[in-house]
Amino acid sequence: MTATIINTLLKKLTHRSALPAYSDYTLQYVRHALLTAINSLNKEPLFELTDIQLSLAPNHVAEHITLDGFICGKKLKTNPIAWVSQTAEQLNALSNDLFVHITPVKGYLNIQLNTTTLITHIFNHFQHIGDRYGHSDLHQQKVAVIDYSGPNIAKPIGIGHLRSTIIGQSLANIYEATGYSVLKINHIGDWGTQFGALIYAHDHLLDKATFKDNPIGALKDIYVQFHALKQDQPELEDKAREHFKNLELKKPHETTLWQTFRQLSIDSFEDIYNQFNVSFDAYLGESFYIDQVQTTIDQVQAKGLCQTEATSDLLTVQDLDKLPTFLLRKADGTSLYITRDLAALLFRSSTFKPDTILYLVGNEQSLHFKQLFALYNKLDAPAINQLAHIGFGLILADGKKMSTRAGSLIELTELIEKTKTKCRDILTEKGTTLSEDDIHVLATGSIIYNDLSRTRTKDIDFNWNTMLSFESGSSIYLQYTYARICSILRKQHDRFTALTNTTTFQPQHLAAEDTQLWLQLLFFPKVLEDARRSNMPNGIANYLEDLAQLFNSFYAKHSIKESADALFLCRYHLLTCINIVLKNGLACLNIGTLQRM
Ligand code: ARG
Repeated sequence: MTATIINTLLKKLTHRSALPAYSDYTLQYVRHALLTAINSLNKEPLFELTDIQLSLAPNHVAEHITLDGFICGKKLKTNPIAWVSQTAEQLNALSNDLFVHITPVKGYLNIQLNTTTLITHIFNHFQHIGDRYGHSDLHQQKVAVIDYSGPNIAKPIGIGHLRSTIIGQSLANIYEATGYSVLKINHIGDWGTQFGALIYAHDHLLDKATFKDNPIGALKDIYVQFHALKQDQPELEDKAREHFKNLELKKPHETTLWQTFRQLSIDSFEDIYNQFNVSFDAYLGESFYIDQVQTTIDQVQAKGLCQTEATSDLLTVQDLDKLPTFLLRKADGTSLYITRDLAALLFRSSTFKPDTILYLVGNEQSLHFKQLFALYNKLDAPAINQLAHIGFGLILADGKKMSTRAGSLIELTELIEKTKTKCRDILTEKGTTLSEDDIHVLATGSIIYNDLSRTRTKDIDFNWNTMLSFESGSSIYLQYTYARICSILRKQHDRFTALTNTTTFQPQHLAAEDTQLWLQLLFFPKVLEDARRSNMPNGIANYLEDLAQLFNSFYAKHSIKESADALFLCRYHLLTCINIVLKNGLACLNIGTLQRM
């Protein structure tokens, strides 16, 4: 069983599909051209490609793109402002087909491009890679392990785990889109002393009928009941401990019950995952590492990193990088969350040789991960380029943490249902009816976008109105823009087909709004890479909103239908490209699109 899971994971790493080359993207072509031009100004080439960092020029200037001169200035240990003004003058004196004019502004070079050359290049490349536009081989040959969701068995999956699931799935998509081989691991909480209590509660407190109807709810209730009873009967604690000990010793009664709880829990988690189109390569939970705990502890001991006690099994790690002391083994010999996490980390690094391991867990566990990483780094284990805790904030209702006790925790199924109902109401108001499947796409998209469009590390104040709106700031706005473009393309399709035989693509006589849209498309592959590097999916959300807004203001001013043939053809292609980018961008966020709305 175990061997099969690992083999499947290893196989996934060897099956890499061919991806579009990052170097073929137009932005790379522009960077190279600029690098060549700048390097030609000196006898020796002074710069490399990484020094050439481009962004869209600010709205109020006539130029198209901006080079950050601070990076180049710093490299030459010279004043960037002086470097920029001298370089602009020298570049303007050269004759170059791509760079029409360059203006120095403070530490930046604002560059006006030859838009015909630029747009033709983007267009040709689009023709070549089609609906994969944005995806690239940038990080091919690298492995990323993404540890996300991680709910605890015998408990309903909560809103915090949903955040981990949503952000984790999106990062998995983004890493894949930039060439990584990604292993999506669900480190479920399926081990620990609480299972002793649960087994006791199952044997003595469970009502069979309730359990049959709603197993997870029943388990949660008896667990709460157990803790209430324990107030008056402290001996229950020992009973629970004994059951857990038996579980660790793999005794049949405890093992069978634990397996049942585990499977029922996974089934209930999967109900939620399926609704959000989330999938994992493996459920490798805490229990998977039990057999590796001893060798893990041996490694820590061999390095003299922990302290033992003469009278018990207690094992502590003290004074590690000035972090607070923590336990690696309890006095009764059982392992802890961090012990199992260290075993998991050692296992992952030696088995998968990852470049990156990400842990999607709320900010409140930040100390846990500091301790885990500090300990790992002291062992003779493979170095990991990016070993990171990707934290996130809480979801607040009326400024307060959502909690089950206060009754404000919206159970996830309820959240999805309520979102769907609200979606239906809004559509009815707008006079539209959609199928239930389509409503599902809009509703889950809204829940996801409500999360991914914000700065990950901050808390989210839950608000139905912002989440479900047709205005900018919601996923429905992006999906609506996509469907609107689909409709235009459908209506103009015949004219387009007829024209392709007689007219060639010539990006001339374009309005400023056309050019702006092409420029926005130019940056899409970089936006994906920036989101990956910072582990911040909201960069993609912001970008898509800008794109949709640019399109909607373009369309308010210009008619596709009334454009003369050459312009029409150009615009038809432009709209096709915009929609590929909207679709791929939303797919990175794990949000679907609809052809009609
Ligand atoms: N089950 C844990 C919790 O609910 C999250 C697990 C996260 N992953 C990990 N490798 N620690 O807090």
